[in-house]
Amino acid sequence: MSASLIPSPAFVVAALICLMSCLWLFPDVASAKHAGITRHYKFHIRLQNMTRLCHTKSMVTVNGKFPGPRIVAREGDRILVKVVNHVPNNVSFHWHGIRQIQTGWADGPAYITQCPIQTGQTYVYNYTIVGQRGTLFWHAHITWLRATLYGPLIILPKHNVSYPFQKPYKEVPIIFGEWWNADPEAVISQALQTGGGPNVSDAYTINGFPGPLYNCSANETFKLKVKAGKTYLLRMINAALNDELFFSIANHTLIIVEADAVYIKPFETDIIVIAPGQTTNVLLKTKPNSPNATFLMAARPYFTGSGTFDNSTVAGILEYKKPSVSSASNVSIEGLPLPTLPPINATSFVANFSNKFRSLATPQFPANVPQTVQKRFFFTIGLGSSPCSNNQTCQGPNGTKFAASLNNISFALPKTALLQAHFFGQANGVYTTDFPTTPLMPFNYTGTPPNNTMVANGTKVAVLPFNTTVEVVLQGTSILGAESHPLHLHGYNFFVVGQGFGNFDPNKDPANFNFVDPVERNTVGVPSGGWLAIRFRADNPGVWLMHCHFDVHLSWGLRTGMGSFGWQAPQSEATSSTV
Ligand code: C2O
Repeated sequence: MSASLIPSPAFVVAALICLMSCLWLFPDVASAKHAGITRHYKFHIRLQNMTRLCHTKSMVTVNGKFPGPRIVAREGDRILVKVVNHVPNNVSFHWHGIRQIQTGWADGPAYITQCPIQTGQTYVYNYTIVGQRGTLFWHAHITWLRATLYGPLIILPKHNVSYPFQKPYKEVPIIFGEWWNADPEAVISQALQTGGGPNVSDAYTINGFPGPLYNCSANETFKLKVKAGKTYLLRMINAALNDELFFSIANHTLIIVEADAVYIKPFETDIIVIAPGQTTNVLLKTKPNSPNATFLMAARPYFTGSGTFDNSTVAGILEYKKPSVSSASNVSIEGLPLPTLPPINATSFVANFSNKFRSLATPQFPANVPQTVQKRFFFTIGLGSSPCSNNQTCQGPNGTKFAASLNNISFALPKTALLQAHFFGQANGVYTTDFPTTPLMPFNYTGTPPNNTMVANGTKVAVLPFNTTVEVVLQGTSILGAESHPLHLHGYNFFVVGQGFGNFDPNKDPANFNFVDPVERNTVGVPSGGWLAIRFRADNPGVWLMHCHFDVHLSWGLRTGMGSFGWQAPQSEATSSTV
């Protein structure tokens, strides 16, 4: 072992504090109020050989599976996931979309709510599902490990509670991901070194399978076998690192009924758009009579940026079962038409599609949109650059390094987790609370970009006093190319009250905000060359990450902490331990 691997004393102290917090502090108040059960899961993180596209590699997996195992629970249940790390990499896990009410230690982003789980270590995630039902997912939340560490998180309604839509005959998770011939960890660490854009994935996958349109992949095709005349619930998840996707099934219409584990007003569509971090439930009604018929389903990216991207198509098969029982046949997909998908840069299609999402807004499922705002933010969201260090040559824009930012601040990860620093009153030297509420230097955000595109670096947190109502307007920029950013907020759902193209106009645009039935989500695409307004109530104390769900932008610093401080767990609650 080389000398450079010996940890500094400060690091040892931080690691110790972290260990203590991991073992002792599981605020545990929600469970008593809900009649759910406790469900135990074990995640063994281990290396496993996998082959796709005739390419075998050893990759980091949960329990040797790709995609990882399903977590299935009911609303009100408590989930205990014991993670044991058997690989050289540090890991941490995020339960994407789970509100984590008063369970910030279980949220998962490394250096935000916990120190990473080191080789040989164990960490228990302990949280209760409160007021949510639908499809979410879990994924690693450190470097680019979520390329292989992800899986569905399915929340069924409470016992004897039905869906507000037709009861499906069967439910099937459809989880999009990527296949990388290279090691994604090497890809991002090299890109951060050189400052250039990282290499892209080699294929998209449906439930781990790239499908027949790639070389040496015909046998690795996801096949959905259905019966005629039935309704299927497809639980769709985009777990890809860097790509928003269009998806469609040839000759079939989908009915969207839920988004990010919140029911919506159902609407029909032939094509869905799903950004990384988004989940959506759709009903698929099979044809009344279609023996032996086979159809293709396919997904490919929506992209407007100026960098490179994986411009390939994943396909799967929808196969109608034969009415009579005969042996399994090998279906030929030759000559089957692919479903029609929009052009790669179909921004207006995407805007149209996302405008169709509306909350149910019924007495049973109300849309509790904050009607007034106590804390207002205006954040620019986009790319930028940072200087190339001396005697290095960098491959980013004009010899600099690529960066990404909110309000021109590229967030630097601390060495102590933010939540831990806050909890122990040791924020000094870890983070500051001066995240700017508006851009320090306003410019024509979607017009000609300014000459200076350098970002500032810092570990700055935006403070949300407990229980205040918050509005954030996210303004896309055209710096280094306008593109859509799937913005994700931890710890809260938010309502999307408005969106548009160009620059947000604070005098005109709010008049068109929807306060009646805006969609409630945890991840939403800020339109390419446009803006988006969200509202939520900061009713969940903790430190919550807000970031772009493209891992490449996250790695470049497009993130900040939202600290809902000014609230302390009563002693009895904060110290009750379950481990
Ligand atoms: Cu699914 Cu912070 O992310």
